[in-house]
Amino acid sequence: MNITYYGHSCFGVEVNGKHLLFDPFITPNELAKHIDVNSVKADYILVSHGHQDHIADLVSIAKRTNAKVICSFEISVWLSKQGITNTHPMNIGGKWKFDFGNVKCVIAIHSAGLPDGSDGGMPMGFVVESTDGNFYYAGDTALTYDMKLIGDYRNVDFAFLPIGDNFTMGMDNAIIAAGFIKCRNIIGMHYDTFGLIKIDHELAKKKFTNAGNTLTLFDIGETKKY
Ligand code: NI
Ligand code: MN
Repeated sequence: MNITYYGHSCFGVEVNGKHLLFDPFITPNELAKHIDVNSVKADYILVSHGHQDHIADLVSIAKRTNAKVICSFEISVWLSKQGITNTHPMNIGGKWKFDFGNVKCVIAIHSAGLPDGSDGGMPMGFVVESTDGNFYYAGDTALTYDMKLIGDYRNVDFAFLPIGDNFTMGMDNAIIAAGFIKCRNIIGMHYDTFGLIKIDHELAKKKFTNAGNTLTLFDIGETKKY
């Protein structure tokens, strides 16, 4: 799987030839000014929750690519009012088989209102299972014991976890989360974008290494093979 980082919590993941895009927030991100949003590919856009820093470029990319948007039922209703009808509404605990593989929606402990005050439903994480491999995209979340369910019943090769603290769990709780999900290969997200979530990269990597895990921090625009 090729993984490309577009900054904050926005990643493109190529699964079985399909381009999955997670939480598009590119054009308002001062750190991602070198990313051409019009070149970002998407066959599917997975949206963890309705906060601005996860959906800023959702409508424009969905319109340009006609990608199917996988999101909460409430966000799909909100999108339909803006002319985006190629959606697949889901909710926590639900799983669906897509042409690239399965998506299971899992609990995220966070808030989820949309920028205009609309109800965005519940925040979610996603477990993607495919013949290319399995991964967990946590979205914005606190550390929660529910993550143990992923470790007990799913087989995750790598996981995208928030590590920026303040709005989500920070690096120390993310290390505990890696234990809960039984996954040692962690990709960091939701850090550095704003002053409140700036982190020390070397300290974070060292802490993960000391706990027997690997923390990978992508450069924005970088693509790596997994
Ligand atoms: Ni959020
Ligand atoms: Mn956020």
